[in-house]
Amino acid sequence: MFPQVTNSYTYEDCKATADWLLARTDVRPLIGIVCGSGLGGLAAMLKDQVAIHYKDIPNFPQSTVQGHAGRLVFGQLKGQPCVCMQGRFHLYEGYAIHKITLPMRIFKLLGVHTVMLTNAAGGLNQDFKVGDIMIMKDHINMPGFSGINPLTGPNDQRFGMRFPCMSDAYDRELRQLAVDVGQELGFGDFLKDGVYCALGGPSFETIAECWMMHKLGADAVGMSTVHEVIVARHCGMRVFALSLITNQAVMDYDSEEKANHEEVLQTGRQRAKQMEQLISSMVNRMDNNNNKI
Ligand code: HPA
Repeated sequence: MFPQVTNSYTYEDCKATADWLLARTDVRPLIGIVCGSGLGGLAAMLKDQVAIHYKDIPNFPQSTVQGHAGRLVFGQLKGQPCVCMQGRFHLYEGYAIHKITLPMRIFKLLGVHTVMLTNAAGGLNQDFKVGDIMIMKDHINMPGFSGINPLTGPNDQRFGMRFPCMSDAYDRELRQLAVDVGQELGFGDFLKDGVYCALGGPSFETIAECWMMHKLGADAVGMSTVHEVIVARHCGMRVFALSLITNQAVMDYDSEEKANHEEVLQTGRQRAKQMEQLISSMVNRMDNNNNKI
């Protein structure tokens, strides 16, 4: 069977971690936010913060990637109780897939209804430019094709059903809200939408792999997010996700360009403000129409 099955956390393990966290803050978060590479600044916008290092949280893995601070931050964003992951976990760090996605189940048990995720991604769509922000409308889960899926192993109905639907993973209303808010903020020129393709990493893609993903309908490629989305949807949370196009995937054999993590972090820093503005303005709007939470 799949080796990661033995590393699966039980409902009781997740509950123990959630209760441990709830005993350390008065915040009862309704919105959970996951910050991708170089995008952890969003956490600084939370008011009345309580920050807890991953290394202190029972069962939690630790962030090993540069650009990921490794803290869970509770607080109010535009008056909404939120919890924010400042740094996430990836397959390429060597963690079992259940470990990577554990925080989604913790979010659920903390009372979170809506998860908003960000990531850095390489652009495959030839109309995309570095610095574009892509609203994720769908994903291609490449590791899933070979059985690497966070829901493998026994299913606990208390989280969700054995065979969850994924055709509606990315909430339509929240995507429309992002378009509306993005227009109002003057982001129309660099706000796109598209399909994100997840690979395991850590090596970047070959040129042939980029063309394959492009032909399969992917607009951007990255090494995260989809596993979290699958687990979040499995336990019934609403999902919204943004990709920051930090580099153009190399698709030309004559190109001198080389994908590198420093470029990813640098673009992240340049666009971080707008990403933060978009998310916080959406959260603000959810407050005004509380049916949107
Ligand atoms: N490929 C994979 N992951 C990434 C990239 C990329 O080009 N850019 C940022 N994350």
